[in-house]
Amino acid sequence: MGTDRRGFIGKAFGGVAAVGAVASLYGMKRTWDMLPSVKANGFTTLDMTKYTKYNHNYIEKWRGKPIFIIRKSPQMVAEMKSNSNKYKKQDQQRDIFIAGSHFLMCIGICTHLGCIPNYQPEDQNYLCPCHGSIFDFSGMVTKGPALIGYNIPPFKRDGNKLILGLDSPEYQKLIREHATQNEM
Ligand code: FES
Repeated sequence: MGTDRRGFIGKAFGGVAAVGAVASLYGMKRTWDMLPSVKANGFTTLDMTKYTKYNHNYIEKWRGKPIFIIRKSPQMVAEMKSNSNKYKKQDQQRDIFIAGSHFLMCIGICTHLGCIPNYQPEDQNYLCPCHGSIFDFSGMVTKGPALIGYNIPPFKRDGNKLILGLDSPEYQKLIREHATQNEM
């Protein structure tokens, strides 16, 4: 066999081996990557620019739980800040200011026995259909039998987005201020 021919066969085998190595690396990477469904179950990304209507309860899902989102109008924010008979300091602490507005973002499950309350835009509060608990537009409980407000899930900002399921200093601050759950 001539030198040229041996060189050609060597290069050809080398090429096949390289293609095989790339293919197997690709296969390994696919195995390492989380399945899309696992990603979706662990994290939910909320693009807050999508929620344009004021005083409207948007419902999303995170780890199988309903997430309530309300974009508060400037009037709602002013009322929350000025009417100390009706709203507590934690109403403001629980607000997330993002995409140019104040938002409620919380787990929409009644903290009494787990029913899903309904938002009443005319009263700007949530009424639980099971035993009548009422939560204000910040998720604070204002009438029992529930004793604490809605839970706030862990979240992290990414521009105008919130990624639910990730911890952040902002979320830790809410925990320190006892704003993630509020006692009546
Ligand atoms: S489950 Fe909501 S008031 Fe009982």
